[in-house]
Amino acid sequence: LGSHIHYEETVDSTQKVAHQLATDGASEGTIVVAEEQISGRGRMDRKWISPKYTGVWMSIILRPQLPPHRAPQLTLIAAVAVVQAIEEVTGLTAEIKWPNDVLINGKKITGILTEMQADADRIVSIIMGIGINVNQKLDDYPKEIQSIATSLSIEKKEEISRAQIIQSLLFKLEKLYQLYLQHGFQPIRILWESYAISIGKRIKARTLSGTITGKAIGITDEGILLLEDEAGVQHQIYSADIELE
Ligand code: BTN
Repeated sequence: LGSHIHYEETVDSTQKVAHQLATDGASEGTIVVAEEQISGRGRMDRKWISPKYTGVWMSIILRPQLPPHRAPQLTLIAAVAVVQAIEEVTGLTAEIKWPNDVLINGKKITGILTEMQADADRIVSIIMGIGINVNQKLDDYPKEIQSIATSLSIEKKEEISRAQIIQSLLFKLEKLYQLYLQHGFQPIRILWESYAISIGKRIKARTLSGTITGKAIGITDEGILLLEDEAGVQHQIYSADIELE
């Protein structure tokens, strides 16, 4: 990963740039990194605030030879890699909230957005977007998100090198991706579950079709969340916002 790096000062969104490169045939491992995003995107059509020089705003093009239903697993790989990179560079302990939020002390430090182009039976490309809050100060955040967002420097109380984070992240990601391609999802699942906070807890899952409350009992082999409601009925959650009760 990272054999081709597209570095930009300012972009709309590194996702958009990466999509274009992928459409134009960019090879697996191509990376787009920017200092600033004007319209950074989050999951569920949200905005992702990406001020200049403060974070890691990056999109990675992957082209695994796999069927489309395996795509959610790749999001989980990214979350594991982020937790490991944060630990390696800062010594801070981070946790994963399904599917793709990385938290420190319960506050969001990283968001991951995985988008896919596929035909009926094959993934054509995966664009894995990773946003890590590195050197923001608390005052840099709008009031309404100060209680739910944080940055590595807020948690560590010192400036953190973004270059080191990127380097460590790419290294971890490469190792985990190779592990995944060679041995499948099982070893990733074990790592992921060891960093996850929501498993075994009562949660509220807000999906597009309504809210389900129950106990998160694990993730499936495909990386989908399993939730058991009060009646003991199991639900497979493909996409939702999770709140711990
Ligand atoms: C989320 O938590 O909702 C996902 C946020 C993903 C943000 C990253 S920053 C790099 C890449 N470019 C974007 O526009 N979004 C992702």
